[in-house]
Formats: sequence, structure tokens, C-alpha cells
Amino acid sequence: MWLALYGAIILAYHQFNCWYILFVIKNAIILAGGKGTRLKPFTNAINKALLNVAGKAVIDYPIQTLKDLGVTNLTVTLGGDHFNQIINYLEDGSRYGLKINYVFQGEPQGIAHAINLCSNFVDDKFAVILGDNFFEKPVLFDNNSNCQIVLNKCENLNRFGVANIENNKISSIVEKPDIVNDNSYAVSGLYLFDQNFFKYFKLLKKSNRNEYEIVDIINQYKNDNLLSYKIYEGLWSDAGTLESLNKLNALLLKW
Ligand code: DAU
Repeated sequence: MWLALYGAIILAYHQFNCWYILFVIKNAIILAGGKGTRLKPFTNAINKALLNVAGKAVIDYPIQTLKDLGVTNLTVTLGGDHFNQIINYLEDGSRYGLKINYVFQGEPQGIAHAINLCSNFVDDKFAVILGDNFFEKPVLFDNNSNCQIVLNKCENLNRFGVANIENNKISSIVEKPDIVNDNSYAVSGLYLFDQNFFKYFKLLKKSNRNEYEIVDIINQYKNDNLLSYKIYEGLWSDAGTLESLNKLNALLLKW
């Protein structure tokens, strides 16, 4: 047993290029609902998560990010016109070494809403990733966090949830703010939550854009001093617009 543990630590060292205490997250949710409006006309015929980026489906990249975290039980939330294509593509998950459950989100009522539908499938701490998020290298969470978000300095911050950092602490988190500054970071679509998520969701109201916003859940963790963050230095991108999808595709083909 000690030999196996030693082997796993050496493996982690090689994979992540530094020493980490292994913190394995078994349960995760990937969000693959939504209508893909910003990717029309392609999404008239194909689910956004299955569009091709450098020879893989968009959704293959976030799945790899979850596998790097140690995830074995994955719940996929589905919605939109072509949700069955995702089931046909991922099947039962055995091709990825995963056990997959599917949950149907009738209307896209927000990221927090989709996660809440999965309460029966995740226990303890769980990871969530948006089905259009790409991380160039593995991301690890801190094992003592109740909620952890992953921040990135990137272009077009106004397109994202934005966290402002002051004295190494998050001072505010706002969805798609008009004003950003040097202390502003994009909140990427990879999150760690504990079971408080479902308690907070019960208090949530829909936003002006008629969605249950993920930043409103994160702000509740923040108010209770249960939020931590890490800054991700590698390349992070979403593939949610034609521009970001094409850019990512071109970059990956060059690598
Ligand atoms: O990519 C990171 C950003 O993702 C965060 O910085 C924002 O805080 C977060 O709100 C989100 O912003 P987007 O505008 O990119 O979210 P979008 O509506 O495009 O949804 C992201 C993914 O989640 C997409 O693959 C579809 C899925 N989704 C979305 C909604 C609203 C669902 O499965 N169900 C939903 O109800």
C-alpha cells in the first residue's frame, strides 16, 4: 500500500510539476445545457458541446480537466434541441473511465439552477465545470476549501463573472460588470462546492436576466467566509462564441 501511495505522489509530481498532497474529488457535474445561441447557425444542427476544436469535441476538454482532478462519477446536465446527441456521444462514460448520469434541465434557467438539479448525484465536496471551458493544464483544488473558484487574467473581462482582489482577498464578485480594473480577474467556469450549495440555492432569487446566477451562490459563500480562490496562470478560454471557438482551435492546432 505504501508503495502504491509513493507511486501516486511521484505521478502527481510529474503531472503537475510540483509537490501536492493528493486531494481526489470523486463527484462532478458538467453543464451542457443552454441553447448555443451565440454559435448559430452551427448549433441549428449540432449541439454546441460537440463542435470540433482541434480534432476533439468541445466537451472532451472539460472532461479531461475533471479526470485530472480524480473524478470518477460524472453528472451531465442537458438541455436545448440536440441534447440527445450528447448522450449518443458520451454514452455511459466507460470510454472515458467514468460513470455518467444524465439530468435534464428543461429551460436554461441559469448555471446555479442546473447544478441544483443534481443534488441527488453529488455528496460531500464536488467539482463543477461548464461544458465549454478549456484549461490548458490540470487544475487542483485546496482540500480545506468549502468553495473555491479559479481566477484568470484574460482579455474581454466584461464577458465573464469578475472577481476583484484587494489585499489578497476577494472584495467583490459581479457578473459581467461594466467597469473592471487592474485588480479584476475573470471567474472561470470551474468550481469546487460543498453541500452548502443546496442550502444557499434555496435562498436564491432570479437575476435581471431571469437566471439563477452562479455568482450569487459564490457571494453567499463569501459572506459566510467560506470562499477561497486560486489564480490559474495557464491558458483558459471558453468556446462559447464563434470568436473564442475559432481562436482556441487555431491555437491548439499550432501547438
Ligand atoms: O466561462 C465562464 C463564465 O461562464 C463565468 O465567468 C460566468 O460567471 C458564468 O455566468 C458563465 O458565463 P457565460 O455567459 O459564458 O454563461 P453561458 O450562459 O454561456 O453558460 C455557460 C455554459 O453553461 C454553457 O456551456 C451552457 C451551460 N448552461 C448555461 C445556462 C445559463 C446550462 O447548462 N444551463 C443554463 O441554464
